[in-house]
This record gives sequence, structure tokens and C-alpha cells, in this order.
Amino acid sequence: MTTSGGSSRQPPRPLPGTGAGSSTASPSGSAVRKPLSPALPGFPPALGAGRDREFEFTASDFEKVRKLIHEHAGIALSPAKQDMVYSRLARRLRACGDRTFAQYLTRLERDRSEWETFVNSLTTNLTSFFREAHHFDILAEQLKKVAEKRTIKIWCCAASTGEEPYSLAITACEAFDSLNPPVQILATDIDTAVLAHGEAGSYRQERVERLSPERLRKFFLRGTGDQGGVVKVRPELRRLITFRRINLLEANWSVQGPLDAIFCRNVMIYFDKPTQYGILKRFQPLLRPDGQLFAGHSESFMHAADLFRSRGRTVYQRADTPLR
Ligand SMILES: C[S@@+](CC[C@H](N)C(=O)[O-])C[C@H]1O[C@@H](n2cnc3c(N)ncnc32)[C@H](O)[C@@H]1O
Repeated sequence: MTTSGGSSRQPPRPLPGTGAGSSTASPSGSAVRKPLSPALPGFPPALGAGRDREFEFTASDFEKVRKLIHEHAGIALSPAKQDMVYSRLARRLRACGDRTFAQYLTRLERDRSEWETFVNSLTTNLTSFFREAHHFDILAEQLKKVAEKRTIKIWCCAASTGEEPYSLAITACEAFDSLNPPVQILATDIDTAVLAHGEAGSYRQERVERLSPERLRKFFLRGTGDQGGVVKVRPELRRLITFRRINLLEANWSVQGPLDAIFCRNVMIYFDKPTQYGILKRFQPLLRPDGQLFAGHSESFMHAADLFRSRGRTVYQRADTPLR
């Protein structure tokens, strides 16, 4: 549920198109996190000691979860994430009727259909419109320089709830001064719940509060009636984007190059360096020689200097192309 920081407004209704394990916004309106599991009435919130918890969760259960999510999604959970894992998965235990984590993990081994929700529960989906805004200015300059008549292709490979690919679509419309720019955006993520949210293209008003009135007017439709407090992206913007599930760890991405830009922001931070390197190695041939790779503010690909060269401000170009 979204809360509006310190204000007396009523909590808004849930958005349509958000599934189980979907995201919520923080009081600042910019954070998207999984809901925490509430404490049982009469019990303190689960902290540290196993005896305080609703479900038995041993150190070996935690190690197993860490191993499974690392193997399957590349996500390297630090030992400090024990409480987070408990909170996120306790909801699944309740829903499945399991009494201990050991029981749930046995279920996971047997039931492939539970995997999707398991992974969705453990991803972190923090995002916002025009997050790290300078990247969109740099992309706009790149788009304006494309002289040939061709379709420009952008891959947003950790799209979360859609704010990033829609920011890319807005940037493209503005760069070409058209609601029908020659741009295709592929928006992918491992988490099917956030992809469903992105596909629906509906956001609570607070999520778009920092956009200029002009952008709001041009690219969003305001909900009325029971959709009051919700905005929806215009269909023209939605048409520029294809949403698809892709696990960056999987061998076959089915992504058609050559790409003008890859937005891979704030996801590599969850992977260890060898995993990052393996992914960067597969990005390189997909990117056009004059293409750009955009990383998150705290991510650095210096360990892959043979593949990508920094252009500053967490933007990279292929290392096998002349410095531009
Ligand atoms: C913190 S969000 C970043 C969202 C957006 N790129 C941004 O910077 O605002 C990280 C996203 O990476 C996704 N993710 C995690 N592991 C992944 C994987 N192995 N393959 C694809 N996406 C993954 C998560 O589901 C989550 O939506």
C-alpha cells in the first residue's frame, strides 16, 4: 500500500494489474519494495531470534534460500538479509499452508509453479520515473544524432514496474517531437508481477508527482471515478514498449540486436563480479558500435574494461570502438 509521507490523506486504492508479490511505494513515493509480513497479533515483530517468529526458520533454511536464488537469478543475498528473506517468504508459507521453512523449501523442490512466486518475492524493485535523470538527457542527445532512417532499438533489461521504460519512451517522443518516434523499447525483468504492473501502465498520482505538468498532460491520462488518484500512460507511449520476462542469467535471451542503447541500471549490484562479467560479455555484441550502455549510479564495470569503456557518469561504450 502506498502511504503519503506524513500527510492526512486516505491510503489510495490498489492499482489494477498488480499481482501477488507486487510492489508498493515508500513514504517518499519513490521506493518500491515488497510488503513486509505483519507480526502476529500479540507477538512482537520477527527479529533475529527464531523463537519470536511465526514460522521456524533455521540458519540452514536461510543458506538454502540464498543458494537457490543465487543459482536461479544471480541475486547474491548477504547474510544480513535474513530478516528480509523471512518477511518476504513468510507470506508464501501462509498462502501455501506450510508450517516451517523446511516444508516450504521441500514444496519448492517438488512444485515448479512455486518458483515464479519465490523469485518474485525475493527481488527488490526500487525505481521511479526519470531516476538518474542525466541518463535520459544523454540518451536524447544520442537519439537526435541518428541520421539514417531506421528503427532505433533500446533494451531496458531490469524494467521493474515500468517507470524506466516509460521514461525512455517519453525521452524518445520528446527527442523526435512526435508521439510516434522510430523507436522500439524492449522492457524485460525476471519478476513477472512487476512486468504485469508495467504492462498495465497505471500509476498512483504520487508516483508521477515529480514530472513536469507538461509531461503529465502530454503523456498521461488522469483516472476518474473509482480510478481517481491513478494515472495511466497514453496508449501511444505504451505502443513503443514490448514487455517480456527475461532472466539475465538464462542462456537464451532472444533479444534481437543491434541495439542503440542498453539500460542495465541498478540490477548488476545484486550480482557478483563473475556473473556481471558474463552478462556484459553477452551485451557487447548486441550493442551497435556507436551504442551506449547505461549503468546504475553505484555500479561500475571497470572490471570488464576489455569489453566496455567508461564515458563518465556511468555510461559506457564498447571497448572495441574508438573513443568518442
Ligand atoms: C532495483 S530494480 C531497478 C529498476 C530500474 N532499472 C531502475 O534503475 O530504476 C532491480 C530489478 O532487477 C530485476 N532483476 C533481478 N534479478 C534479475 C535477473 N536475474 N534478470 C532480470 N532481472 C532481474 C528485479 O526484479 C528488479 O525489478
